[in-house]
Amino acid sequence: MHYRFTLLPGDGIGPEVTAAVLEILKACDLHIDWEETNAGASIMDTYGEPLPQVVLDSIKRNRIALKGPITTPVGKGFTSVNVGLRKALDLYASHRPVRSFPGVKTPWENVDLVVVRENTEGLYAGLEHTVAPGVATALMMISRKASEEIARFAFEHARNEGRRKVTVAHKAGVTRLTNGLFCDVVREVAADYPFVESEFMEMDNICLEIGRDPSRFDIILLENLFGDIMSDIAAGLVGGLGLVPGANIGYKCAVFEAVHGSAPDIAGQGKANPIALLLSAAMMLHYIGERRNAQRINTAVDTVLEAGRVRTGDLGGTASTAELTQAIIDALPRR
Ligand code: NAI
Ligand code: MG
Repeated sequence: MHYRFTLLPGDGIGPEVTAAVLEILKACDLHIDWEETNAGASIMDTYGEPLPQVVLDSIKRNRIALKGPITTPVGKGFTSVNVGLRKALDLYASHRPVRSFPGVKTPWENVDLVVVRENTEGLYAGLEHTVAPGVATALMMISRKASEEIARFAFEHARNEGRRKVTVAHKAGVTRLTNGLFCDVVREVAADYPFVESEFMEMDNICLEIGRDPSRFDIILLENLFGDIMSDIAAGLVGGLGLVPGANIGYKCAVFEAVHGSAPDIAGQGKANPIALLLSAAMMLHYIGERRNAQRINTAVDTVLEAGRVRTGDLGGTASTAELTQAIIDALPRR
């Protein structure tokens, strides 16, 4: 089978980890034609905007994109391209599986949870106004439609993947209308899934409990901003941002990208960990039905991590991106 997907290498460490992932996909004997484009600061000179229509059209045409991280300038310049992309393509569900990796020592074992994050609204949508000099407000929009879609995504995922429980994060005690609506809608959807347990927990309480015992969580369902924060907390539990993959799913297309950002502190040095983006690519393969190849990649990653000899700096090693890439290729099981 020949595939044609869109590729956005991103910036910072993006191009480095993207190149590594393409090499590994090639070693899997997958025939993928990549329609390469990009977004963000690196294309401003060419297009005059960070997220031009041609990029959106490419993803709409190919339905699938693999994306490196894209830097968002702080407090000035263009607003987040990552947020813009999710909104423009209605990639309403962010799906981030977080599991313990063999050989990666952390205070916790047997972490196996999924962060399901609403991807289009909430405070994270960045609807802000300066109402008077020195006073700014942000609009937290929560709609029945988006809440219902993300809830259904979470419960369907639970059913399809044999997961037992959905923990719903909220702060409905203080933001009663917004978080209250989110909880009400999720409760309605949960009623359609009597075989999946649901529990509602205040966000701060989840932060406390996940630090005590992450194994008590299965799927955690959150609105956008809480989901952003929880993704990094959960990544920290299993060894950091260099390991945790993600997918942005819509009805028409899907964009696969790691949880981490462009890591400007280590960009261009050839030492970024490509595993997070690689496992995002494995999620992409799983999504399109290339399950065997997705499994091969996961197995190779586990084998290399368990052996512990070849590790990048974020995991306490000294290996380069290229060395880790080669080790993963060498560890790929036969077809
Ligand atoms: P970051 O995730 O880029 O980096 C946080 C820390 O983790 C840094 O110390 C970095 O070196 C390390 N790290 C991250 N990924 C790594 C990898 N693959 N291998 C080894 N170490 C890794 O977060 P930060 O610094 O807050 O954000 C940098 C930029 O990235 C910002 O402009 C932010 O807006 C953007 N960003 C983009 C995202 C996206 O494109 N989806 C997601 C998150 C942030
Ligand atoms: Mg984040």
